[in-house]
Amino acid sequence: MKNEKKKIILSAKGIYKSYKLGGDTINALQNVSLDIKDGEFVAITGKSGSGKSTLMHLIGLLDTPTQGQIFLNGIETSSMDEKHLAKIRNKEIGFVFQSFNLLQRTSALDNVILPLKYSHTPSAHWNEKAEEMLKIVGLGDRKNNKSNELSGGQKQRVAIARALINDPAIILADEPTGNLDSKTGEEIIKLFHKLNQQGKTIIIVTHDDELANEAKRKIVIKDGEIVDD
Ligand SMILES: Nc1ncnc2c1ncn2[C@@H]1O[C@H](COP(=O)(O)OP(=O)(O)OP(=O)(O)O)[C@@H](O)[C@H]1O
Ligand SMILES: [Mg+2]
Repeated sequence: MKNEKKKIILSAKGIYKSYKLGGDTINALQNVSLDIKDGEFVAITGKSGSGKSTLMHLIGLLDTPTQGQIFLNGIETSSMDEKHLAKIRNKEIGFVFQSFNLLQRTSALDNVILPLKYSHTPSAHWNEKAEEMLKIVGLGDRKNNKSNELSGGQKQRVAIARALINDPAIILADEPTGNLDSKTGEEIIKLFHKLNQQGKTIIIVTHDDELANEAKRKIVIKDGEIVDD
């Protein structure tokens, strides 16, 4: 009810994604359409190989569909060139990858600073902003640790701090608790709920039913199609 007046910020219309592998074509997504409203908390679930990461990469503008359209804030994205896409990705979307994607042998602080380098934030503020973000995810005392000197949960929190640093409206997280013990996983989920209460739109992929049931909306994907929403 509360969402009824909220605007649609992300929209997929008739998305198909196929991969050519040798002589075979794999249809990873087939005719997927969805609208995400500002401030929603959405969980995407489905079996391994059902197309969840593929969908996240497409709505995160990291990849392009074989067919269909993706709209961000009502603007169709297929005509945007890579430079334009990179710019809006950096500003509007925070992406937390299934496998963290942190720079190895690089400090937590420098990992979080990375997206700032491609923003309009003056370099004089980079350290201060990144330190503040690390404090928010509970890692204020680990800023100088290199990513290989962090636990799985800590790495995941660095990845979240990096996703948040440019204050994006949308956070996309692919299995953010997949590699964590249940207690650390719960802490990460609490963090996402807090961010959602602050107004961020959150879309997470998860295998965890409990976690999915906590979301306000659950989308189930099977063999590349949405079977429940
Ligand atoms: N680059 C690629 N080339 C060929 N096939 C791919 C590629 N990426 C994904 N696929 C295939 O597309 C399908 C969907 O993959 P996807 O990674 O989206 O699944 P998923 O739901 O995220 O699975 P998981 O839960 O294991 O992460 C799978 O059958 C996979 O093998
Ligand atoms: Mg995946």
